[in-house]
Amino acid sequence: MIEPISGFSKLSKQEKIEWLSSTYLSGNTKAKEILTQYWNSNSSLQQLHEEFTENTLTNYYLPFGLAPNFLINDRLYAVPMAIEESSVIAAASKAAKFWGRRGGFKAEVLGTQKIGQVHFMYSGDREKLQAFFSKAKPRLLEAVAPLTKNMEKRGGGVVNVELRDKTDLLGDYYQLHCTFETKDSMGANFINSCLERFAETFRAEAKNHEAFDASEKEIEIVMSILSNYVPDCIVRAEVSCPVSELADHGLTGEDFAAKFVRALKIAEAEPYRAVTHNKGIMNGIDAVVLATGNDFRAVEAGIHAYASKEGKYSSLSHADVRDGKFRFWMEIPLALGTVGGLTGLHPLSRIALEILQNPSAEDLMKIVAVTGLAQNFAAVKSLTTTGIQQGHMKMHLMNILNQLKATPREKEVLVAHFKSHNVSHSAVEEQIEKLRQ
Ligand code: MEV
Repeated sequence: MIEPISGFSKLSKQEKIEWLSSTYLSGNTKAKEILTQYWNSNSSLQQLHEEFTENTLTNYYLPFGLAPNFLINDRLYAVPMAIEESSVIAAASKAAKFWGRRGGFKAEVLGTQKIGQVHFMYSGDREKLQAFFSKAKPRLLEAVAPLTKNMEKRGGGVVNVELRDKTDLLGDYYQLHCTFETKDSMGANFINSCLERFAETFRAEAKNHEAFDASEKEIEIVMSILSNYVPDCIVRAEVSCPVSELADHGLTGEDFAAKFVRALKIAEAEPYRAVTHNKGIMNGIDAVVLATGNDFRAVEAGIHAYASKEGKYSSLSHADVRDGKFRFWMEIPLALGTVGGLTGLHPLSRIALEILQNPSAEDLMKIVAVTGLAQNFAAVKSLTTTGIQQGHMKMHLMNILNQLKATPREKEVLVAHFKSHNVSHSAVEEQIEKLRQ
């Protein structure tokens, strides 16, 4: 029976691996080798990675690739993407090239405000609470002044603090609903520090508020935390062209556009399809968010919540045809940073931002949204014309060859063979067996 371990975090990396190998991986003679082969020979780089998080054993690699030829607001970008899924970067590159020849992508930031909340319980008189809040608000803002000084120099800070009555959702539940501008930083630490200071000050002020009776003075702070739902931190990405320029795969431009728009209407109407449709968008978004050292979990949570903003999960992107013009667009919430956090610490994030010409957070919002839209275009285009598997399996061929432990020579022969044949797992197996006979 396995016993709980205490003091695991105090063990060295080597000791942690020893413990793991003997406790959970005793049947795997290669476990230690597999784990340690990813250590970086540059010890300071290795240490940097270990210090990003806790109980690090080794590094987990993802491919870091590039999708060139993204024309965004008349500026040409090469977009770094960290992703393991075959065909995603190829699809993004293809869509970038396609739209580059049709005027490129247009992107616009529609808002940059972020939200944080102090959640608290108060069982007293509502009007008295409102009067107390109005009196305490200047004190709250004074209390965070030392925290906001630097952010204000950069043009950010606290935009507003409101008292929100949420007792219709939960008895005695109120919030300080706070709005922030965090400029080029994602701002999570800034927001959370301000919120905790608001909470302390609010609670302390309540204790001294004369109009409150004894129980009203005891406001219970439940928690203070930013929200990853940022419906006022929005970016719009769009492409458009005359329908006649969309002719493809034997379809006229009109037929292609009609089919594409229909596929989008299905994703708008039907949640099962919407989730997969949006997953295709996230293939592009997450890859850039990850490459630039941003928080992809925050982005995922916020975007999927936004996809449900009408009360039903739906497509993030939309398309129409009007007066002979095809338009395809998307508006999404994105809280990103280009300073602070991992962005400046991880050498690959720094390079990714340099590749993107050191964008502001707003520029990065545009680039990320465009990559998501490009990815979505590529996926829906394939789905509504050739089917997804043809292109996907071509890109997946190398994974199958690696699974079958193909030698470099076998790879060369089979890659050439599958240029003109359909790829499937069994077809590759069959061909490799033939070669090996
Ligand atoms: C696969 O990673 C993404 C797609 O399923 C997206 C879609 O169906 O639109 C191809």
